[in-house]
Amino acid sequence: MKKLITAFLLSLVPVLALASGGDVHLDKADIDLHDKDSLRHGARLFVNYCLSCHSAAYMRYNRMGRDLGLTDAQVKENLMFAGEKVGETMTVAMPAKESKAWFGTKVPDLTVVARARGADWLYSYLRGFYLDSSRPWGVNNTVFKKVGMPHVLWELEGLKKPIIEMRKNHEGKEEPHIVGFEQVLPGKLSKPEYDKAVRDLVNFLVYMGEPAKLTRYTIGVWVLLYLALLFVVAYALKKEYWKDVH
Ligand code: HEC
Repeated sequence: MKKLITAFLLSLVPVLALASGGDVHLDKADIDLHDKDSLRHGARLFVNYCLSCHSAAYMRYNRMGRDLGLTDAQVKENLMFAGEKVGETMTVAMPAKESKAWFGTKVPDLTVVARARGADWLYSYLRGFYLDSSRPWGVNNTVFKKVGMPHVLWELEGLKKPIIEMRKNHEGKEEPHIVGFEQVLPGKLSKPEYDKAVRDLVNFLVYMGEPAKLTRYTIGVWVLLYLALLFVVAYALKKEYWKDVH
């Protein structure tokens, strides 16, 4: 028995090692899909700061409006700029060819990016831009090395430069390490305000990756209520049937 337990515990080791793997630290996004204010704020940031380059080609404006508790008129007024109709998907005017010429790469669609990357990665990425004069846009990123995207939220966050220390890696070689940041240009938002804005934006990206989740939450509540009711009825029936047996 002891041997079995040891074997079982040992078999867990590689899994644990994998789970803690990766040398990139990710901050927790702590998202909440029930928070409609946060989702609406995220949607506004998304259309203002991201939709000029990225599309969300699998999301329709009116579906988003419905899920976020907005009327078609409100969606038109607050979340749409060009002459699109509310039934259309969130596409982008920039042709793929030009995006390749400008950015050296195709700008990815963001509808399901949260499923591919995860909320914590996105939260860390959007807060991870720092000044690096060796890069074409003057910025690099803590979780996406040599990123091809400019820091589009710099007006809100401001600009920060890394504080670098030399540290030995596991082979004993000295390597530069980012140990912190120094703000060199203030943004419109304070650090906590910026973190909150990015959290709302990530919340929206997670919602967009699986809009059916919101519907499922509601269905779940009804299912539980139904089961509770069924239990009461079944219990009453059971009492009724067994009444004469005892
Ligand atoms: C000026 C154009 C531009 C704007 C505006 C822009 N991006 Fe990007 N974004 C890019 C490009 C180009 C890449 C590809 C970077 C690369 O592959 O090196 C990218 C990559 C990304 C990625 C990584 C995708 C992946 O999985 O590889 C995410 C996430 C992302 N952008 C999110 C956003 C969000 C959120 C916004 C709005 C706040 C935004 N972007 C605004 C150009 C832009």
